[in-house]
Amino acid sequence: MKASRSVPSVVLAAGLALALLVSGCGRNMAEQPRLGAQQASPFFADGSGNRPLLEGTVSRERGGIDPVFFTGMGPDGLVSQLPIELSYELLQRGQERYDIFCSMCHGYTGEGDGMVVRRGFPRPASFHEQRLLDASVGYYFSAMTNGFGRMYSYASRIAPEDRWAIAAYVKALQLSQNATLDDLPNEVRRALELGDSEGRLP
Ligand code: HEC
Repeated sequence: MKASRSVPSVVLAAGLALALLVSGCGRNMAEQPRLGAQQASPFFADGSGNRPLLEGTVSRERGGIDPVFFTGMGPDGLVSQLPIELSYELLQRGQERYDIFCSMCHGYTGEGDGMVVRRGFPRPASFHEQRLLDASVGYYFSAMTNGFGRMYSYASRIAPEDRWAIAAYVKALQLSQNATLDDLPNEVRRALELGDSEGRLP
């Protein structure tokens, strides 16, 4: 008799344990009190849930606190030196980004004859006119960062590092479109002089 009564109590205990297991955790961990962005909070004296950055906070983006990297401006105005290292890879990245973000208006060669312009958008100046040949790399960074006349800012669309890559590429583009044979390294020049139109040696 005793044994037959103990069976249901074991089942009961197991059932209870299962019920606790399923409901016991509740959803308290998943649904904790929290504040959404911009939400007010009576917890802080200023009534705002958003907390201001601590004084002296340093950006973790590349460039740290270097203002030149983010503005293109040095103590003497727009900089003519890249604040990051120039490399072939940087120029290739710049070319890729330029072709994506700028070529539809400024054209692949920077003449200002991109497809959008051919369809009626105001034509920007050619990057190969003297004023823009003389413009510093910082000028190009600044035009992208702040916008220029009818051209909107690219600050929210293109990261600072890529804006520098594009600026460096535009300077290289200017060089390429205005280069003479004398600007070429000797072996390349020899290949062009001796070879066919592709520079292939006979
Ligand atoms: C939608 C077309 C359009 C796109 C895309 C565009 N631009 Fe422009 N850009 C213009 C126009 C138009 C002007 C001239 C604006 C004016 O004078 O009001 C201009 C002006 C400029 C200038 C100043 C030129 C000067 O006369 O001093 C620079 C530098 C420049 N753009 C660089 C860029 C770069 C780099 C990109 C790509 C990140 C870019 N633009 C993308 C249309 C465009």
